[in-house]
Amino acid sequence: MCGIFGIINDKKNQAANTVLDGLKKLEYRGYDSWGISIIDEGKNQIQVDKHIGKIGEAKTNLPPGKIALGHTRWATHGGVTDNNAHPHLDCTKKIAVIHNGIVENYQELKEELLVKDHKFISETDTEVIAHLIEEKSKSKSIKEAIFETFKLLRGSNAIAVLDFTSQAIIACRNGSPLVVGIGSDQYFLASDVPAFLKETNKVYFLNDGDAVILSNSGIKLFNIETGKEKNLISQILDWKLEDAEKNGFPHFLLKEIYEQLKTIPKTTSINEKQIKELSEKIKSGYKVILTGCGTASYCALATKYFFAQIGIDAQAIPSYEFMPFSKFIDEKTIVFAISQSGETADTLIAVKEAKKRGAEIIAVINARGSTLERLADTVLSVGAGPEIAVVSTKAFTSQLATLYLLTTAVTDRLEEGKVKIINLGKVLTKWLDVQSIKRLVSLAKRLMDEEHIYLIGKHINYPATLEFALKIKETSYVHAEPFSAGELKHGVITLIQKGTPCFVLASNDEVKDEVLSSAAEIKARGGLIIGVAPFESNEFDVLIKTPDLGDLTVFANIIVGQLLGYYLGVGRGADPDKPRNLAKSVTVK
Ligand code: M6R
Repeated sequence: MCGIFGIINDKKNQAANTVLDGLKKLEYRGYDSWGISIIDEGKNQIQVDKHIGKIGEAKTNLPPGKIALGHTRWATHGGVTDNNAHPHLDCTKKIAVIHNGIVENYQELKEELLVKDHKFISETDTEVIAHLIEEKSKSKSIKEAIFETFKLLRGSNAIAVLDFTSQAIIACRNGSPLVVGIGSDQYFLASDVPAFLKETNKVYFLNDGDAVILSNSGIKLFNIETGKEKNLISQILDWKLEDAEKNGFPHFLLKEIYEQLKTIPKTTSINEKQIKELSEKIKSGYKVILTGCGTASYCALATKYFFAQIGIDAQAIPSYEFMPFSKFIDEKTIVFAISQSGETADTLIAVKEAKKRGAEIIAVINARGSTLERLADTVLSVGAGPEIAVVSTKAFTSQLATLYLLTTAVTDRLEEGKVKIINLGKVLTKWLDVQSIKRLVSLAKRLMDEEHIYLIGKHINYPATLEFALKIKETSYVHAEPFSAGELKHGVITLIQKGTPCFVLASNDEVKDEVLSSAAEIKARGGLIIGVAPFESNEFDVLIKTPDLGDLTVFANIIVGQLLGYYLGVGRGADPDKPRNLAKSVTVK
């Protein structure tokens, strides 16, 4: 939700262009508008260039300079207009502010500022911050003015301020992510590492309550509450530049779908000590709760089925429905919080509540340095690498593979589980050949003008239908509705007409026949039955044959949904990397 990127000491004296390039790497965080502010030595105020729409191939006419700060916006307060785009300036135009989050009390703050004659140009909550800093800096240093202003803001926020007078970028974090990049004589501030990965992998992830000042002389870290300087201990990330590039693929989404052939088997390099300790606790009777949002909640549900297979009654609760069930949590509960970003507000709220009630928190995350990582007692890092496409693919399959491995550890079959996951990678690699892709592209063409698609599956293939449908909806904007195979005939079958496409996701398992019976019922009403399964059947009008991988067939069935969503989206003119209205990490309630 909103991308922040700034640079101090740009080597090429082209800070605006450097920020523009970095913002393009962060566009997945919001693409309603973008904007850049720069200190131009020839002028006595900050220069700003901002526009609505995706940053795409945009160029900026801002003058040369060494310091710039920019933003990509996912709109919350105020419509998508040039005026509402960040950065926002104070009345003197010497303070530019960009922001990720929501200032819940901005109305009351604004009223006080209006009385003091501050002029507002936008409808945003962010502009209030610029004027508040201006007001406070009349009697205080810029550092104190910013820290005091930040303390007045209610809600989860990260702010970054470009200050003309001190020629510095000053940023504060409470709830929304910020990371600094330490290059050789150049310093970066961003919401996420890909923005500056080209220049450095030496980073520091800010904690809540941290502030940083980036200036010519380097980076200083502070505690916002006390105003005192802290020791900044940086770390080197093992991410490579190509992780943040498309590498010849037309879209990040397609690249990331293919990366799964490596990222799924990579999960076997799991921390065995951690997994064994956890499995001992589960064996000893700890309650297991799995939670997450969107795709991560489907991972939770699929894992619930894997746990059921080994006789453990795990609960899967979407984080946004967590509260009514939180009262059942006690000190003998393990909560697995599943999240790609580790910054999803609803997931964090659920985790905080579970923690309050004494649960042990296990974060199953992909991104690094997140809030969830800090809240958790144990971090199961799934190591899929940066996921840039807004639509989640490789993070999901790595999370599911990791949790599957955990279930094998609980039954002392971890080695067997690892062999299966490694084999899964190999089989998927063979299966995803030119022929399979041709079949999917031709199916996508056939479905191109459909407005409604239905999906059925049972047991482990039920969460697979949820994830498959979400991929179709997010990527192509086709309405795709998933059901448990048993559910359809209890009402929704009324919607089936001649030719209505209905996907049937199945595996060679104990419910295969039941699923085929449901398919037959739909077929009898004229539905077009598209099987996604490792076997043939007379019920299927079309078959996308997946490899028979036993209980892991579900991975292949889901990848069909990812690819189909991608090809449908491209065919229908959508942007598969940046679906409309979506943000990669939803840091607001
Ligand atoms: O970063 P998280 O995994 O916590 O994000 C959760 C959801 O917002 C996310 O999975 C969302 O549903 C994606 N758009 C799925 O593709």
